Amino acid sequence: MPHEKHNKVIYERLQEKLQRRKEKGIYRKLQLHQGLADFCSNDYLGLARNKELYSRTKNELGQISSVLNGSTGSRLLTGNHAYNEALEARLANLFDAEAALIFNSGYVANTAIMSCVAERTDTIIYDELVHASIKEGYRLSFAKRYPFLHNDLTDLEKKLKKADGEKFVVVESIYSMDGDRANLNALAELCQDYNANLIVDEAHSTGIFGKGGSGLVCELGIQDSFFARVYTFGKAIGSHGACVVGNHVLIDYLVNFAQGLIYTTALPLHTLVSISNAFDYITENEHLQKDIKQIVRHFQKVMQPSKFDIKLNDSPIQIVRIGDARKAKDLAERLQRNGFDVRAIVSPTVKLGEERLRICLHTFNTESEITQLASYLQG
Ligand SMILES: Cc1ncc(COP(=O)(O)O)c(C=O)c1O
Repeated sequence: MPHEKHNKVIYERLQEKLQRRKEKGIYRKLQLHQGLADFCSNDYLGLARNKELYSRTKNELGQISSVLNGSTGSRLLTGNHAYNEALEARLANLFDAEAALIFNSGYVANTAIMSCVAERTDTIIYDELVHASIKEGYRLSFAKRYPFLHNDLTDLEKKLKKADGEKFVVVESIYSMDGDRANLNALAELCQDYNANLIVDEAHSTGIFGKGGSGLVCELGIQDSFFARVYTFGKAIGSHGACVVGNHVLIDYLVNFAQGLIYTTALPLHTLVSISNAFDYITENEHLQKDIKQIVRHFQKVMQPSKFDIKLNDSPIQIVRIGDARKAKDLAERLQRNGFDVRAIVSPTVKLGEERLRICLHTFNTESEITQLASYLQG
């Protein structure tokens, strides 16, 4: 007998929860948007679709004779190849850290580090808007944890004053659903005053800022103020995977205690080669970072004045606040019908009442396309 026939209860419960999401207008479904102008992906520099980069990666793979299709095991067993170690040495150098450790994704890197470094007697204080992977990570740890108000250092200081044990402060350099920056200089000073360990997720600044795509911390030259930094390769780098950088002790600790590294098959060689080539490409094409800044400036120019509550950022992530899930979805669908792939971000990804359009800009978006998008939005 099929499972759903002999155990109806669980399926009814799942259906009820799905139904509630539909009623609230926050039901998610997988969708294909072919042929629309991309104002939604994280491929800010167009590297995921860059043919030259693809053929460079293919050529390099053709010259390598080791295991090609899969890595064959965890990094601690048979999944560790010379390429991993060479790439990690290169990433440590790029991000100006003692050492780097590659993880299968940013999600895994965040859950891995957050779940294993803090102990029961410690305190994790995180910006209320940090990514779901950071939240999942600290839930797996036994440490006490408290949010601080988004980008509010006064609130952070209040929490730091009360914190026990080793203190960890967790932020993103560019917030994924808001596109705004953390004040990294001020955070670094505050954490130093309170002897707190600062962890930053650079998912949305990797590639976009800093020499060779080394991110915002390196651009600001404050690498030494951080206990750990997480860089991801699935966004502006156009590939997949992530790394944590820090000192040798931290990296050695992660090799020993990070479940997300130990108990999973390592990334395949083709991903590693594509990451390596993407960083070469960014270094050779310095104009990419200037191009994305120009695109951002153009968007800001054509979006002002606006009838919407807009949040214009110096990152490729721009926000149009709508404040209602159905209205945000309707507006996104209207833009999609007109050829623009813009998506609504609704609860629980953002708080209820904070529903929005998240417009991602790319080097391949043309100025006329952006002007058109702005006029459909404002019209
Ligand atoms: C801030 C932030 N950190 C981590 C991640 C996860 O990275 P990945 O897509 O590599 O798993 C994301 C992706 O959405 C993100 O926005």
